[in-house]
Amino acid sequence: MENKSLSKIGVLTSGGDAPGMNAAIRAVVRSAMYYNIEVYGIYRGYEGMITNDIKKLDTKNVAYILERGGTFLKSARSAAFRTPEGRKAAYDNLQKHGIQALVVIGGDGSLTGAHLLFEEFGVPSIGIPGTIDNDLSGTDSTIGFDTACNTAIQAIDKIRNTASSHDRLFFVEVMGRDAGFIAINAGIGSGAAATLIPERKMPIENLIKRLNIRAKAKKQSNIVIVAEGGKSGGALEIAQKVKTILPQYDIKVTILGHLQRGGSPSSFDRVLASKLGLAAVEGLMHGKYDVMAGVINNKIVYTPIKKAIVDDKEVDDDDFRIAKILST
Ligand code: F6P
Repeated sequence: MENKSLSKIGVLTSGGDAPGMNAAIRAVVRSAMYYNIEVYGIYRGYEGMITNDIKKLDTKNVAYILERGGTFLKSARSAAFRTPEGRKAAYDNLQKHGIQALVVIGGDGSLTGAHLLFEEFGVPSIGIPGTIDNDLSGTDSTIGFDTACNTAIQAIDKIRNTASSHDRLFFVEVMGRDAGFIAINAGIGSGAAATLIPERKMPIENLIKRLNIRAKAKKQSNIVIVAEGGKSGGALEIAQKVKTILPQYDIKVTILGHLQRGGSPSSFDRVLASKLGLAAVEGLMHGKYDVMAGVINNKIVYTPIKKAIVDDKEVDDDDFRIAKILST
């Protein structure tokens, strides 16, 4: 059913920024204006909703941002919003501006915020998955994931040059919080000797076995990708354990860190963000509330936020198998 009275919406980015968030904001603003709906930008995520850092946006505000990394609306992880008082203050500010509905671009914490505003105050909201971690159900890919994988692979290619020049063993830690999506993609895409992800336990003995097989095959350099959220520790911890068992290796550790969040979004992320920005506005117009817009098999789908944030999106078994077979 079309919500004909929708005339004013708010948009915000929250949590860790991701390349393509700007493209999503642009798509929300341009789509809303196309349908004669006013858009208010809420700065610094829920923090700005509480401090009333809210300004009207028009098409000029979103010119030349499609290709820029980060988020021009800025982002934050708001502690105040986790309290009922904080959320009440946020709601009151939405009311002051006459904002009738929200588009929230971010990861699971950000979408949880949208869900709470809907549950506690009835604010119609729709989420757009924006996180490099790719850890949201209801979409094949989150905005920023593809760019982050490309960035990680390009960095690992450079590490490969120096690793092979010195016959070294490198442990490279990638982001992803407690999900191994960036790691498994970076592992396959960079030809890693092994990829350690939180979802699959690889005992240290198996890693040693893998390195010994490669040594017998006269492989001179090795790159092991370690997802930051692994239960056996990050790259530094794993490297230390391996050093005690294989002291003959010249071992180095690189933590890629926040550089994975920056840079101009890839073509894939720009297109995904553009599709989801329009889908979010049209979703609100058609009364789709408390859902996240996503793309599955190239089709727009709306998934209840409660379902999208459940931690049940799995690293593909096949991806894990490919990484293993190709590393020998
Ligand atoms: O969720 C995105 C992410 O970059 C994770 O991969 C990482 O664990 C986390 O954010 C880092 O957060 P912060 O920038 O707050 O240190």
